Amino acid sequence: MARDKVILAYSGGLDTSVMVPWIREKYDMDVITFTCDLGQGDDIEKIRQKALKTGAIDAIAVDARNLFVDLFVWPALMAGALYEGKYPLATALGRPLIAKLMVDVAHERGAKAVAHGCTGKGNDQVRFDCTFQTLDPSLKIIAPVREWSMTRPQALEYCAKYNIPVDAKPESPYSIDQNIFGRSCEAGVLEDPWDEPPPDAFAWTVDPVQAPNEPQYLEIEWEQGRPVGLDGQKMDGVPLLEKLNAIGGRHGVGRIDHVENRLVGIKSRELYEAPAAVILHEAHRELETLCLSKEASRFKTYVSQAYADLIYNGLWASAFHQDLFAFVASSQRYVTGVTRVKLHKGKATVVGRKSEFSLYSKKLATYDAGSDYDQTAAQGFIKIHGLGQQTQARRQLLKDGRGFDLPGLLRHQK
Ligand code: ARG
Repeated sequence: MARDKVILAYSGGLDTSVMVPWIREKYDMDVITFTCDLGQGDDIEKIRQKALKTGAIDAIAVDARNLFVDLFVWPALMAGALYEGKYPLATALGRPLIAKLMVDVAHERGAKAVAHGCTGKGNDQVRFDCTFQTLDPSLKIIAPVREWSMTRPQALEYCAKYNIPVDAKPESPYSIDQNIFGRSCEAGVLEDPWDEPPPDAFAWTVDPVQAPNEPQYLEIEWEQGRPVGLDGQKMDGVPLLEKLNAIGGRHGVGRIDHVENRLVGIKSRELYEAPAAVILHEAHRELETLCLSKEASRFKTYVSQAYADLIYNGLWASAFHQDLFAFVASSQRYVTGVTRVKLHKGKATVVGRKSEFSLYSKKLATYDAGSDYDQTAAQGFIKIHGLGQQTQARRQLLKDGRGFDLPGLLRHQK
C-alpha cells in the first residue's frame, strides 16, 4: 500500500534536513519538501536539490515574492501595522503565505499531513498551525522540534547516519529569519536586553555612525496607499523593496531593537533590520497626514494596532482580518501622491509630501494676508465648543467661590 504523504516546510537548514528521514521513520510517511522564495536571498533550486539528496520523494520550490509583496506586505503597510509600535512584521507576514501554499500543495498531491520546523516556544508555530487548521482541519500537523529533544551534536550525528549533507559554513550564533520585508535576529548574546547588540548581529545595515556624512534624498510615489515608483521611475514591488533595503542599509536606516511580547506569554528581545519597511511606513504615514481626514486618521490608529496584533498572533485567516482590511482599503482610496525622504546617519525623515487629493489648504493655513479663513467665525465656535466645560466648572469645580486650584485637584486622587 502506498504510504501517506506529508508536505514539509523546508529551509535546507540542519533541523528541517534532519526532519526528512526523521518523519519518514517516526510516522512512516513519504516526505515532499516545500521551499518558498520570499526574498530571503537563498538559492531555492539548490535547496530543492538538497532535499532530494536528503531523502524527500519530491521537492518543490516556488518563487512567491510577488504574491508576498502584493497580498501581505502592501496590505500591512497600508494598514500601518507595526507590532507594539515597532516591528514591521516581516516574519509574521511570511508564515501564513507559506502555510496557505503548503495546504494547496497538500491538496494537489493528496497529502494527509503538513510539517514545519518551528519550536514550541515561539509565535511561528502558532501562525503555521492556525493557518493550517483553519484552511484544512483534516490535515495532520507534525512539528518535530516540539516532539524531539535533539541537541545540535545529536542532529549532526543523525546527518552522518543518513548521509545528509551538512553546510560547511559555521553555524550562526543567532537564530535568523529573513524575507524581503526584513531580517529578524534573536538568541545568543541578544538574550540579555541590557547588552548592546554586537556588530555581528547586523547584516543588512551599516552602523549609523559609519554611514555617509552626505544625506540622500528619495522621492517615493504612491497610489492608493501602495508605493509604485522611486525617484521618478515606476517600479514593481519586489525591485522597489530590494532597492530601498540596499539604499537604506547603506545609511544605517532600519535597525529596531525590540523587547516584544510573544503570544505564548514570553517576553523576548529581537533585533530587526528592515530598511525598506521603516522608510515606507514613515513615508506612508506622512502622506496620510495630507490625505486622511482627522476622524479617519484617529480611527485608523486603532485599526493599525488591531491589524498588527492579528498578524502577529497568527490570525491572518480570520474574517476579522477581512473586515479590518475592508476599512484599510477604503481609507487608502485617496492616499496617492509623492513623499520626499531624507536618509542620514540611521534616520529616515520625511521632509516633503504632496498629493492631488491633499486636504491641506495653504489658503486656509497661511498667516499671510489673503487667507480664506474667517477669523470672526472662530469666536462663536469657541463659545459653543467650551460650553460644556464652562457649565461644569460653574456648577461643580468653581462652586462656593472655590477657585480653580491645581493642588486641590490632585488631593482628590489620594
Ligand atoms: N519575533 C518575530 C516574530 O515573532 C520573529 C520570529 C522569528 N525570529 C527569528 N529570529 N528566527 O514575528
